[in-house]
Amino acid sequence: MTTEITTRMTAAAAQEAQAGTATAARAWNHTHVLDLDDFSREEIEIVLDLADRMREILDRRIARVPALRGFTVVNLFYEPSTRTRASFELAGKVLGADVLSLSASTSSVQKGESLIDTVRTMRAMRADAIVIRHAMAGAPYLAATHTDAAIINAGDGSHAHPTQALLDLYTIRRHVGDLAGKRVVMVGDIAHSRVARSDLWGLTTMGADVVVCGPPTLLPRGLRVSDRPAHAESALPPVTIETDADRALEGADVVIALRLQSERQEGGLLPSLHEYAEHYQVTERRLARANPNHLLMHPGPKNEGIEISGPVARGSHSIIEEQVTNGVAVRMALLYLLSGGTEPPGGDAPTRTADGDARR
Ligand code: MLT
Repeated sequence: MTTEITTRMTAAAAQEAQAGTATAARAWNHTHVLDLDDFSREEIEIVLDLADRMREILDRRIARVPALRGFTVVNLFYEPSTRTRASFELAGKVLGADVLSLSASTSSVQKGESLIDTVRTMRAMRADAIVIRHAMAGAPYLAATHTDAAIINAGDGSHAHPTQALLDLYTIRRHVGDLAGKRVVMVGDIAHSRVARSDLWGLTTMGADVVVCGPPTLLPRGLRVSDRPAHAESALPPVTIETDADRALEGADVVIALRLQSERQEGGLLPSLHEYAEHYQVTERRLARANPNHLLMHPGPKNEGIEISGPVARGSHSIIEEQVTNGVAVRMALLYLLSGGTEPPGGDAPTRTADGDARR
């Protein structure tokens, strides 16, 4: 495939492409994508820059390139999903990969097969990348120690959802450029949100000024307040914590409303849904305090009338649907990088290196 692309370039462009390939290959050090806590700013930028290229491909009338021909992606979903699963499927297909989606309810998992056995079985069928969503935090990490296929965490319990965080970063960057110094406010059920945790890593790595807001019972332990000294056991990067939504939204450049995760609530965390909505729902009245050009985001699925009002979700500041489109582009970029591919400057479609082809 490299040859195919190279023949379309001039000798100088081919040289430039080789240099670019070497640089990107040096900077991209991930065999798996498990969370963003081990991503540098440079690595995040590689993904976002490549997502720009992928977004161009996605916006073509016929969105198909053969960049991942011969590459097999397996979606292994042990928890329900609409966006993430469809997004990985489309991302693989746009790039010409073979994509297979398994859900726990219709696979041998029902007969007691373990995650490790299932992952090994998929690898035995020559899966190159396995996308895992699981209710147990850490499940994709366990899988990664038992296979040489690339593992992508598509959400593990309340722990992490790195591809959602990357698409959030990409979507914000498309609107505001540099994220450094931007006030990004996450409102809602932070404690149970894997999106919030991965967003915290990604946003702080990119220099954003992050505020998390929710009732005290829905704020996770291990949050570190930015104006206090770091302590060794801090589990998350430093942020500002607010329990008053009106105060939190003051001057916000970006507002990320988070779903109240009813499936992960232990009893007694909230007095009532009505009261929660009363104090924490992102409404037009509350957003009047934000920057007049603020962006409104939500990872979906939304509970309209609980964490976000209908008019806000569909209002002029909402970029929720754009997040979904960008999710495909970002996942294309990740699959492509995990296949060993890099961005050839001047090529009209991405290509893969010999290393990537050698993954099998
Ligand atoms: C997730 O799977 O974590 C979603 O993208 C967000 C949610 O479920 O609220």
